[in-house]
Amino acid sequence: MPTGSARVVLLPGDGIGPEVALQARLALEVLAPDVVLDERLIGAAAIRATGSPLPQETVDACLSSAAVLKGPVGDPEFDAADVRPEQGLLALRAALDTYANLRPAVLRSAVGADVDVLIVRELVGGLYFGAKGVRDDGTVFDTCEYHPRQVERIARRAFRLAESRSGHLTSVDKANVLETSRMWRRVVDELAPEFPEVRVEHMLVDNAAMQLATTPEQFDVIVTENMFGDILSDLAAAVTGGLGMAPSASLSDGGPGLFEPVHGSAPDLAGRGVANPAAMLRSTALLLEYGLARPDDAEALRGAVEAAIVSSPTPDLGGSATTAEFGAAVKEQLAVDVAASSPYRGS
Ligand code: NAD
Ligand code: IPM
Ligand code: MN
Repeated sequence: MPTGSARVVLLPGDGIGPEVALQARLALEVLAPDVVLDERLIGAAAIRATGSPLPQETVDACLSSAAVLKGPVGDPEFDAADVRPEQGLLALRAALDTYANLRPAVLRSAVGADVDVLIVRELVGGLYFGAKGVRDDGTVFDTCEYHPRQVERIARRAFRLAESRSGHLTSVDKANVLETSRMWRRVVDELAPEFPEVRVEHMLVDNAAMQLATTPEQFDVIVTENMFGDILSDLAAAVTGGLGMAPSASLSDGGPGLFEPVHGSAPDLAGRGVANPAAMLRSTALLLEYGLARPDDAEALRGAVEAAIVSSPTPDLGGSATTAEFGAAVKEQLAVDVAASSPYRGS
């Protein structure tokens, strides 16, 4: 590996994962040829090859990388199995301690108000990671568990992000029912005086879903627990262009970040070559910005994706372009940008 070059682990994943991951690879080859992509297994592909959805080699490669770029995992073949692709993803998030999942949803409109919401989803706690099992009488249970420290670190992140944006933070919970939510609310309120520039609002999750669907422009930063954030981020994607457009960045305190689209492996589209690669490419832009501290490259990639959305829309955007055609439009735009910039670039 040349000195000074970053090693990024690429986890193509399942279903449409490898199809959109290929477009990310091709874009990076033009934009950041010095970045070394180290491809590894996760999910159903990893179960088939090794029996595990997250082989130890993959964990080790990710922990020692500069950042991780991941396609979606999941395959209907394993839906009823004991060992499932999604377990690999949850274990990877835990291993990297990427507790802060940033899911931006943006829609600029010529008329009316712009939507620019940033969902800050707690990613390594709550219902996904609490005690679970089966009681003697056959009752099956999952439990939602949070320690106040887990809430404090995600809330602090969200306050800082709100400070750097419009200064409006909506904390979403179910405090009218859940003990974890009442503690969540208390911790957020205790932090608020440290961020006098931020206006904090609490909202119950059922109302938040309704408000997001009807008046998404009222939101700036939303902070919420793991499962509420999972559901609300698909909704936010739906009101700002669809799942094919929605990226995410999962950050820890200092370790490598994990960058992946919000969408899943889309078994209905897999193998047809028509998936929208924008979410994966925008996740790659977040990786360039937050993972590799290359904001100019991130901006160039975002711009090229915008151009491709206009010139080569995929079926989910109302067009008829293939994944490859969308990707080719991105590459073409990037090549123009790269040629126009320093002749020493990438050398
Ligand atoms: P999904 O996100 O895969 O698909 C939902 C709908 O959105 C489908 O109609 C699909 O065709 C469409 N869609 C998704 N991505 C698209 C894209 N890039 N371009 C165009 N259309 C797109 O959700 P699902 O069907 O509920 O889940 C399928 C599998 O994916 C499951 O196994 C699930 O566990 C997994 N999943 C994985 C991740 C992840 O790895 N981060 C995220 C969500 C779901
Ligand atoms: C997501 C996905 C995952 C989640 C699944 C596949 C475990 O839906 O990243 O949104 O629920 O976090
Ligand atoms: Mn989800």
